[in-house]
Amino acid sequence: MKNRIRIIGIESSCDETSVSIVQKSDNKIDVLSNIVKSQIDIHKYYGGVVPELAARAHSDVIDKLVSKALDEAKTTFKQIDAIAATAGPGLLGGLLVGVVAGKTLAHYLKKPFIAVNHLEGHALSIKLEQDINYPYLLLLVSGGHTEFTIIKNFNSYKRIGTTIDDALGEAFDKTARLLKMGYPGGPEIEKYAALGDENKFRLPMPLIYEKNAHFSFAGLKSAVANIVSKNRCTEKFKKDMAASFQSTINKIIFTKTQNAVRKYKQLVKSENDLKIVVAGGVAANKSIRKSLKALESIEDCKFLFPSIKYCTDNGAMIALAGIERFERRKFNKLDFKPRPRWPLDKNAFFMKGKRAVEG
Ligand code: KG4
Ligand code: ZN
Repeated sequence: MKNRIRIIGIESSCDETSVSIVQKSDNKIDVLSNIVKSQIDIHKYYGGVVPELAARAHSDVIDKLVSKALDEAKTTFKQIDAIAATAGPGLLGGLLVGVVAGKTLAHYLKKPFIAVNHLEGHALSIKLEQDINYPYLLLLVSGGHTEFTIIKNFNSYKRIGTTIDDALGEAFDKTARLLKMGYPGGPEIEKYAALGDENKFRLPMPLIYEKNAHFSFAGLKSAVANIVSKNRCTEKFKKDMAASFQSTINKIIFTKTQNAVRKYKQLVKSENDLKIVVAGGVAANKSIRKSLKALESIEDCKFLFPSIKYCTDNGAMIALAGIERFERRKFNKLDFKPRPRWPLDKNAFFMKGKRAVEG
């Protein structure tokens, strides 16, 4: 095995098109380029991602992003060892754009094609910036995913908690929409919350007394909708509701993370310090980071947060997962089909509705 690997990573599963070149040389990871084109300007009018528009926007820019990523990395196609693309989970139209681009390059350049699970990208993203030994716990909180997964080893994942309805980012976005704030809602709620009274409204915390690591946010959003319908949506109301919502979310995340950490301790016997990697767009929220940090001394664990640019969707994490797969010769054929649903833990069952967490 040669000691320098360079891989193109393509990401197009949701509302960011991203292409990155990542190099591994003598065990050192370098992100040579990481170009991200957000589609927020397209979707903000609708208050959420419109799949058809997302797919078109990916296909409009994907070729230009590949050229830009190569230019910025001062790399030619000849110096590339393989092409990795997100093949799921995500919106099918977007996945098709990235996967077809990746396969076309692989075929034309006669290089291996690697189909990457987007969640594996998030799980490994911390390695773009620091060394970490397996095993560790992943808390992924984004617009599409909310889960605790034990990263036992490369390609060996066990999900121990998930949401039975909305993803956490979705709960932020829906609440922001109810409060007539902009999109994406998370950063808006965070801004308003800093100026409001978190004790103004008492909101429900679904599943909070169940000693598991599963979430439910639909009831919380309905409670907000109910209060909104009975009040005038003044600036003061928006600030107090945002503060109450965010503080309720913090309590939920704190308790469920404590449950997940305890479950991890039961399941994993390791000499290593217990590390929890928090990834996904919601991990940008400063109050959530602060509240999780308070668990460190209680549970004797440490939280690691990738930089924001690697928390949100990016091609670099896909290229990195591609490098790990390249080293293990885990290539895919050109007839690999994108998978809109693709759990990281193959044994994790589909969870929807309250009954799913009672068994
Ligand atoms: O990981 P991401 O960029 O895209 C995927 O969903 O895969 O996450 C986007 C989500 C959105 O729901 C957005 O509202 C949320 O992350 N988000 C935040 C913050 N910044 C982004 N939620 C809470 N607080 C934030 N500061
Ligand atoms: Zn993501």
